[in-house]
Amino acid sequence: MNNKTLMEEDLTYIFHPCTQMKDHEKIPLIPIKKGKGAYIYDFDGNKYLDCISSWWVNLFGHSNDYINSKIKEQIEVLEHVIFAGFTHKPAIDLAKRLVHITPEPLKKIFFADNGSSAIEIALKMSFQYFKNKNESRPLFVSLENSYHGETMGALAVGDSGLYKDVYSDILLKTVQAKSPSLRDEDEALEDMKKVLKKYDGKVSAVVIEPLVQCAGSMKMYNPSYITKLRTICDNAGVFLIADEIAVGFGRTGSMFACEQAGISPDFLCLSKGITGGYMPLSCVLFTNNIYDAFYCDYNEGKSFLDSHSYTGNTLACAVANAVLDIFENDNVIEKNAEKIKLISELTKPLANLNNVKEVRQRGMICAIELQGYDAKQRIGLKFFQEALKEGIYIRPLGNVIYFMPPYIITNEEIKKMVSVVERLLLCNNLSKGVLR
Ligand SMILES: Cc1ncc(COP(=O)(O)O)c(C=O)c1O
Repeated sequence: MNNKTLMEEDLTYIFHPCTQMKDHEKIPLIPIKKGKGAYIYDFDGNKYLDCISSWWVNLFGHSNDYINSKIKEQIEVLEHVIFAGFTHKPAIDLAKRLVHITPEPLKKIFFADNGSSAIEIALKMSFQYFKNKNESRPLFVSLENSYHGETMGALAVGDSGLYKDVYSDILLKTVQAKSPSLRDEDEALEDMKKVLKKYDGKVSAVVIEPLVQCAGSMKMYNPSYITKLRTICDNAGVFLIADEIAVGFGRTGSMFACEQAGISPDFLCLSKGITGGYMPLSCVLFTNNIYDAFYCDYNEGKSFLDSHSYTGNTLACAVANAVLDIFENDNVIEKNAEKIKLISELTKPLANLNNVKEVRQRGMICAIELQGYDAKQRIGLKFFQEALKEGIYIRPLGNVIYFMPPYIITNEEIKKMVSVVERLLLCNNLSKGVLR
């Protein structure tokens, strides 16, 4: 078996996510044979440093020995059981631990199996909370440039035309308020107040990606926006949903991004890093006040009847507990601080290059925004291809190159990752859109 034969077989049958399949006439699909630590290995013997944690999910490396041991332990006992009417120890342990490490008012948890579903649950619950109190509030407010997933509700609160526009006729109606930036948040806060006033009594919730709009080109903003937004939502009597699916579990330098703003949302959506990149799992944490709005006799018709077959999957919960063990035992957040500093020292000077518009960083997320390239050049794709030849796997978002590596990345690997991108930034041929 080699890359070519597997690629051909794959392309005979499979339609891949977020992919124009015709691209693979020119760009080889890469069959991965194994992963270990920060590296993935293909069938031709090449290895690649996974600088984006396989779509931001991998925290402690591929095929992590500790997580492997815990999944093996669990698989011998129970792999999965229906989660309605039954429960299991890994889910109970995980729920207890998550409630303990998230902000104080979040006391209850609802499990699902991917990030988009967690968003759907938070939207449905916030709408139904008001419905159960005889109020109809059909609107949700989100930020410009936001991304919350691909299911219909999640797409509707997102603001990326690339993913959303084609479905506009069949999506929920939502309203987007201006996004804050690192330089200015006042305009965004004023706009949010205006929107909430305009739609007074019609809005169930405001949904945000705290600190970093990841899929939206890694746009960043300050914690103070979230602190002030919390007050605005309270004054307007609407829920605040924090989508920490991408930024939770240490990505922004603290365990959860909302910690930096010193606030608690009404709903906190988590996924991706929750299982360290092993298993699909997501959850929504919320307050007792919200829980109580659904707690009544069955025949009152106020139950929250959302369900997914793999809700609270036992293996996934066991893996998530192993991930939390590593956070607790290895001082991950403290140790990451040094890596965050090194990434910052190495990437800051890149801002002086002619073809770099901005270098921005929040914790273990660092983005380099390019300038001077025509969108049709697909410069990000060229960076991807060239970096791959040097054993570095990046997946730029348009003209934004970013690093979001697993936390086990070493200082040497960080240096290699940045130096390869620096060389490509200096490469004249790339700027002319010609591959070497
Ligand atoms: C902020 C945010 N919310 C939601 C999602 C959707 O998660 P999933 O891809 O697991 O459905 C993503 C995925 O990238 C995300 O970045």
